[in-house]
Amino acid sequence: MGFSSARLKMGHVLLLWILVCPGVTGAIEPISIAVGMAAGFLNRYLPNYESILSYFYERCQPEWISFNQTGLKTDLENRLFGQHLASRIILKSLNDFMSNDNPKKPLVLSLHGSAGTGKNFVTKLIVENIYKEGMKSKNVHFFNSFLHFPHHSPISACKTQLQQWIKSSVSNCERSMFIFDEMDKMHPGLIDSIKPYLDYYDELDGVSYRKSIFIFLSNDGEKSIIETALDFWRAGRNREEIDLTDLEESLSFSIFNNENSGFFHSSLIKDNLVDFFVPLFPLEYSHVVQCIMAEMKIRASKGEGLPDLDVANKVAKEWRYFPKTERAFSSTGCKTIESKLDYYTSNKIPRHRPPRRAEGSAKLQ
Ligand SMILES: *[C@@H]1O[C@H](CO)[C@@H](O)[C@H](O)[C@H]1NC(C)=O
Repeated sequence: MGFSSARLKMGHVLLLWILVCPGVTGAIEPISIAVGMAAGFLNRYLPNYESILSYFYERCQPEWISFNQTGLKTDLENRLFGQHLASRIILKSLNDFMSNDNPKKPLVLSLHGSAGTGKNFVTKLIVENIYKEGMKSKNVHFFNSFLHFPHHSPISACKTQLQQWIKSSVSNCERSMFIFDEMDKMHPGLIDSIKPYLDYYDELDGVSYRKSIFIFLSNDGEKSIIETALDFWRAGRNREEIDLTDLEESLSFSIFNNENSGFFHSSLIKDNLVDFFVPLFPLEYSHVVQCIMAEMKIRASKGEGLPDLDVANKVAKEWRYFPKTERAFSSTGCKTIESKLDYYTSNKIPRHRPPRRAEGSAKLQ
């Protein structure tokens, strides 16, 4: 799957929406409860049942959940472009956290950047290198703040449901992951309600949250990230020279002082519950070309044309860039790359041609 189609696939969305907010509380995932009950019953009578079941159904066990450090490293190197800081922070924090048998608190990452910089994409890479089932895993919970927690719905009901959701998920599996997209649009009261789970508690009501992972995605702080990247760009310096220290202070300052942001006037920051702020930079022309080449390689592997740098350059040139005068950064990152590529190559490479004839399409124009 290419960069642009990497909006997280949200298997849980509907379910979470029903459960978490606007008052429709009847539907609790009947299948997994049934499976759970059957497992509990059979377990008592058939000693080997557990291992048979875990062969077919995802369980909270290392066969299903284990961190592939090499896999994540490879994916970050080959599939995420222009994000040296994010790659470094994510790899290091996950290595440390996942290899620690006794973490003092859950891992809390907060990813910041404009649309199209790869926040969803990099989250998906993390998920795929921990959960065998990827985003389909029932231990990965994706919330979209806008969708799931509309501002008009009664906040106290939402709070309780969100807390119950988290609690029951982690009771089922301590290696649960919770992803909150559009965190900047989330009600501050809701954010405060998840705070206890992020903190340094051995356990709460008999449940330990210390092995779970929380990932927040937001556009907050994008201005200071863009400014920093632009300063380097204007000075003719390579963005790889940007260090977290160039950014950390202005980033947390701009996040903390954003009046419109639900996230950041909350106590998450005051109490230092976020372990890492992860900045994602706007993409330069060269990164857009890399994204297009990556997508072309995926297509080539399916027998649809061959990667062609000239075409990639042509497509990338048609992207919109900002600021207007300097055209330093892509306005949409690598988003919508597939349709643009389709459009550009549509009368040159028929998609779905049989693989055998793929070489014929080497001349893309
Ligand atoms: C880890 O990732 C690497 C690289 O993607 C892959 O070759 C390997 O099979 C993976 N290991 C496991 C245990 O999934």
